[in-house]
Amino acid sequence: MSLLPTTSIAAIADYAGQTVTLSGWIYNKTEKGKLIFLMLRDGSATIQCVVFKKNVAEEVFARAQQLTQESACRITGEVRADERSASGYELDVRDVEIVSLTHDYPISPKEHGVEFLMEHRHLWVRSAKQHALLRIRAEVIAAAQEWLNAQGFIRYDSPILTATAAEGTTNLFGTDYFDLGRAYLAQTGQLYVESGMMSFGKVYCFGPTFRAEKSKTRRHLTEFWMIEPEVAFADHDDNMVLQEQFVSAIVQRVLDRRGADLKTLERDTAPLERVLAPFPRISYDEAVDLVNTRHGEVEGCTPMVWGEDFGAPHETLIAQQFDRPVFVERYPSAIKAFYMEPDPQRPEVALCADLLASEGYGEIIGGSQRIHDAALLEARIREHGLNVDDYQWYIDLRRYGTVPHSGFGMGIERAVAWISGTRHIRETIPFPRQLYRIYP
Ligand code: 4AD
Ligand code: MG
Repeated sequence: MSLLPTTSIAAIADYAGQTVTLSGWIYNKTEKGKLIFLMLRDGSATIQCVVFKKNVAEEVFARAQQLTQESACRITGEVRADERSASGYELDVRDVEIVSLTHDYPISPKEHGVEFLMEHRHLWVRSAKQHALLRIRAEVIAAAQEWLNAQGFIRYDSPILTATAAEGTTNLFGTDYFDLGRAYLAQTGQLYVESGMMSFGKVYCFGPTFRAEKSKTRRHLTEFWMIEPEVAFADHDDNMVLQEQFVSAIVQRVLDRRGADLKTLERDTAPLERVLAPFPRISYDEAVDLVNTRHGEVEGCTPMVWGEDFGAPHETLIAQQFDRPVFVERYPSAIKAFYMEPDPQRPEVALCADLLASEGYGEIIGGSQRIHDAALLEARIREHGLNVDDYQWYIDLRRYGTVPHSGFGMGIERAVAWISGTRHIRETIPFPRQLYRIYP
């Protein structure tokens, strides 16, 4: 005997006219005299199941009456085409088997506050919008990896427990590591993935990364997932070309395969249709000028001086000037990480770019050409107040067969928030970790 259903609801069209058994949970139930309408969800989709008193045994009708929101059941019936239903099909029920009855499900169809829903995140993920959002997340991840694999990249996993900092020392999560002193949760896999680049040419790592940031913005998590490609013999311009192709491919695949989910989320897809390479590029200098002439257009966007970093309102203003994501390139080296290659024409700026998503979703990618000269890298490590001894292995990559190389990191949650049109990043991951949230 098997408990498996005949089919998933998503594939129900293949069973039109046949009798099938579906397994799932009751999303909603309405009774109208001799009729009971059961909305069944099985994870793949939902379908309306109609129990007509006349067509079923008395006990079957009684069991259907007992079902409540989120009760688990197996329902057998005939698949009937129905133009009025969203899926195009409904189930004419013959039998109902109760697997478990649910009482007092905390999330009712009525409106709940976000705090309440976050406390019940483990249940909230069953709701239609969250379901659509997390499906889009899965699609973005699959699209990103499959696109890179198809381009000849090798997945090369980086460690999460590390001995050193890569993106500044102010936001490290530390832990005691046996007799070896302190270890830190990785802020990025980049330094390690650079070793893979020297072995395989084109690699990427993908995994959780950590930042002990005390920021409560809608764009920051303390634990987020990042995909980080790294390419040998690639310069800053090659890096941007790779990024625009990568992002376009991901967005177009989501449009192609997750249309129903975007619709559930009421996402306006017109701006996404325009996300096609090439993307515009402006320099940090131009971006600063732009902020200083147009800052009045976005609330909270204050004038700035050269050398400062952009805040969220600045990024919104810059992105607003374009109909697709925009690269802001060549930031002052002083506000960027130690490993970035200086511009040979202007050493005070780095050969780097941030990719700002359209529609005010902010930075989704940070990337750069890397310093490939051992002496310069060592000097930069010292300037940043880091201990050179800890980075010997990383400098080795410049001592043996060094080449110009570049790479970038895309935060999955930022990308998903933008593509799905979700303002707050906390809903783009099953269990967000934030300054004030570690439960559930
Ligand atoms: O710009 P970041 O800090 O760059 C790096 O970590 C590089 N080592 C990447 C590389 O070149 N391999 O972070 C890259 C991206 C950001 O653009 C953003 O999408 C995401 O990671 N990110 C965050 N997402 C959520 N919460 C946070 N606190 C984030 N910090 C960065
Ligand atoms: Mg960044």
